[in-house]
Amino acid sequence: MSPRYTLMHKDIPVLELNIDSASGVIANIGEVYSIEHIPVGTLYVNDPTKPDRGLLNKWLCGRTIPDTRPGIRETLQRLHIATSQLLTLKALGLSLSDQYWLRPAGAEITWQDVNFFTNDFSQDIGSILFRRKRSDKNVNFLSPDSTTDGRLPKQWTLKDGRRYLLKGGSGATQQEPYNEVFASELMECLHIPHVKYELATLNSYPYSICQDFISQDTELVSAYYIMQTASKPDNISAYQHYLNCCETLGVKNIPQKTEKILVLDYLIANEDRHLNNFGLVRNADTLEYLGAAPIYDNGTSLWYNKPVGLIRADDEMPAKPFADSHAAQIKLVTDFSWLDFNALSSLPEVFWTIVKGSVFIDEQRCEAICSAFNERVNQLRSIAGC
Ligand SMILES: Nc1ncnc2c1ncn2[C@@H]1O[C@H](COP(=O)(O)OP(=O)(O)O)[C@@H](O)[C@H]1O
Ligand SMILES: [Mg+2]
Repeated sequence: MSPRYTLMHKDIPVLELNIDSASGVIANIGEVYSIEHIPVGTLYVNDPTKPDRGLLNKWLCGRTIPDTRPGIRETLQRLHIATSQLLTLKALGLSLSDQYWLRPAGAEITWQDVNFFTNDFSQDIGSILFRRKRSDKNVNFLSPDSTTDGRLPKQWTLKDGRRYLLKGGSGATQQEPYNEVFASELMECLHIPHVKYELATLNSYPYSICQDFISQDTELVSAYYIMQTASKPDNISAYQHYLNCCETLGVKNIPQKTEKILVLDYLIANEDRHLNNFGLVRNADTLEYLGAAPIYDNGTSLWYNKPVGLIRADDEMPAKPFADSHAAQIKLVTDFSWLDFNALSSLPEVFWTIVKGSVFIDEQRCEAICSAFNERVNQLRSIAGC
């Protein structure tokens, strides 16, 4: 059986689709009502009058909890739900990062009735995933937690009418939340537009907490989908292709903004800047691009999963998304004149302050991270010719 849904953009019907009830996969696409409101990058590149079912399935998959998320398998089992995609459907596909949703056929509901930007949402799924909710009875599935991807444990919360994302760490060092806070302090020092992360502690574990940078009028479009808006000629690099796509879409200053991401990632040795970890923000009503998204998700960095003995400023540190190593990726940066190296001198002290009292990051680890970070600053100094 494949029940029918309408893909909605706020209250604009975009297209009809059938979704397989056993898996949550889009089985086929029906009538298209609004080609311009189709999610960015899901049309056939060679025939932009038609939605590509494969790309739409990928897009829908991007608003599900991945298999790699701690606790997801047990949660699905406990709730007798076969796949994460079905969990997404139970939340009507609504998220706090854009304005798309799936309206079941015959349901007379509007965006105003259900969106998570102006309505409260359930904490049930997030709490079950965090193992704080024991009962599976009367679970309210309407939650952005079911549509937020990423490997780390996370939960959206509401406070004083604002929406916040709480994100945990991994492994024995739980280092990612500390790194998020550090990266956001670093960007503050360098005047790079960023999402501000603060530290929170829950049951003795560290979490980062940040505000939703999307409002009911805007939406995030990740670089991956921006790069699907045109086919990439073989003779240009992925980086140039991204810049070209942004230029064609009329978005200004993207080379300068992207260079700042590359510099940040070099300094903190970020290993996971994949194409869904940065992007653009557009107005969800006019579809006009407003510019680069503030920089978010910087936790997979600073040797977060290395034992102390392997923490070193190795030039061949793996990088994403435009080169395999930071040594190669930083060569894409053409202008370092904005970079105030003196502002970076206080950052090791900032890291010490962030991890103070942590049972996860001991002094030896902190020392090793700070000295490797200083080494990276020195390496960048010589690359920038300062
Ligand atoms: N502050 C935010 N506001 C809006 N959307 C966000 C925010 N932070 C993250 N997201 C969305 O949630 C997704 C997962 O968050 P992310 O921080 O990337 O988690 P992870 O570290 O597990 O990859 C992001 O890809 C983005 O789509
Ligand atoms: Mg991410």
